[in-house]
Amino acid sequence: MSGIHLLQVRNLSFRYGSGSSPLFDGASLDIHPEDQIGLWADNGTGKTTLLRIITGLVTPQRMDLTLDGEPVLDEEGFRRVRRRFGFVLQNPDDQLFFPEVIADVMFGPLNIGMTEEEARKSAEEALAAMGIAHLAGSESFHLSGGQKRLVTIASILSMKPEGLLLDEPTTGLDARARANLTGVLRSLPGPRLVVSHNRDFLSAVSNRILGIRDGRLVPLA
Ligand SMILES: Nc1ncnc2c1ncn2[C@@H]1O[C@H](COP(=O)(O)OP(=O)(O)OP(=O)(O)O)[C@@H](O)[C@H]1O
Ligand SMILES: [Mg+2]
Repeated sequence: MSGIHLLQVRNLSFRYGSGSSPLFDGASLDIHPEDQIGLWADNGTGKTTLLRIITGLVTPQRMDLTLDGEPVLDEEGFRRVRRRFGFVLQNPDDQLFFPEVIADVMFGPLNIGMTEEEARKSAEEALAAMGIAHLAGSESFHLSGGQKRLVTIASILSMKPEGLLLDEPTTGLDARARANLTGVLRSLPGPRLVVSHNRDFLSAVSNRILGIRDGRLVPLA
C-alpha cells in the first residue's frame, strides 16, 4: 500500500463568485496514510474552504480528487471521504445539535452502526480523553465556547475515524485543555490535516506544515 496517497488533490481551482478573486488556482495536496499536516495561513486565505472542498460541502470549479487511488466523482465518493476523515468544524455551534452533551457525542457512533452500548462507551471514552467526562449530562447550549469545542472534538473522536480534519481546534481552549488536546493528537497515528493560527501547537501535532501562496499549498520552512 505504501506509495498510495490516501487522499490526493490535483488541479484545484476555486473562487466563490465570478466577481471574487480565486482562493485556489491549480493547487495540489497529498495526504498519505500517516501524514500529519499543519495548515498555517492568514485569515481569509481559504483554509476552511479547503476542508469544505475535500469533504464535498463546497464544489470547486475544478478538482481531480482521489481516495485510495479511486476518483471521487460524486456525493457517494465524498461520503466515503467523510467516513474516513472525521471533520471538526471551526464553529462548534454548527456541529452540536442535541440538548444533552452525551447525545451529541453518541450520535456519530450510532450513525456508523455501533450498538447503543458501544456508542455510549465510545462517547464516554472520548469525553474522558478531552477531560470533560463530567459534562456528559450537561446541556450543550449552556456550555462555554471552549467547552463546546471540546465536545465537538469528542463527538468526532468517538467515531474513531481513521483520519482527522480539524479546523482551528484550539480556539477558546485554555492552556491545560490545549496541552491535553496536543497529547491526544500525538497519541493518534492516523493521517490528519490541522488548521491553526497557533504555530507551536501545529508544530507539536504535525510532521509538516503547509501555507497558502498564490492559490497553491506550499511547504513552510
Ligand atoms: N459562502 C461564502 N460565500 C462567499 N465568500 C465566502 C464564503 N465563505 C467564505 N468566503 C470568503 O472566502 C475567503 C476564504 O474564507 P475561509 O473561511 O475559507 O478562510 P479561512 O482561511 O478559513 O479564514 P479564517 O482564518 O478567518 O478562518 C474569505 O474571504 C471569505 O470571506
Ligand atoms: Mg477558517
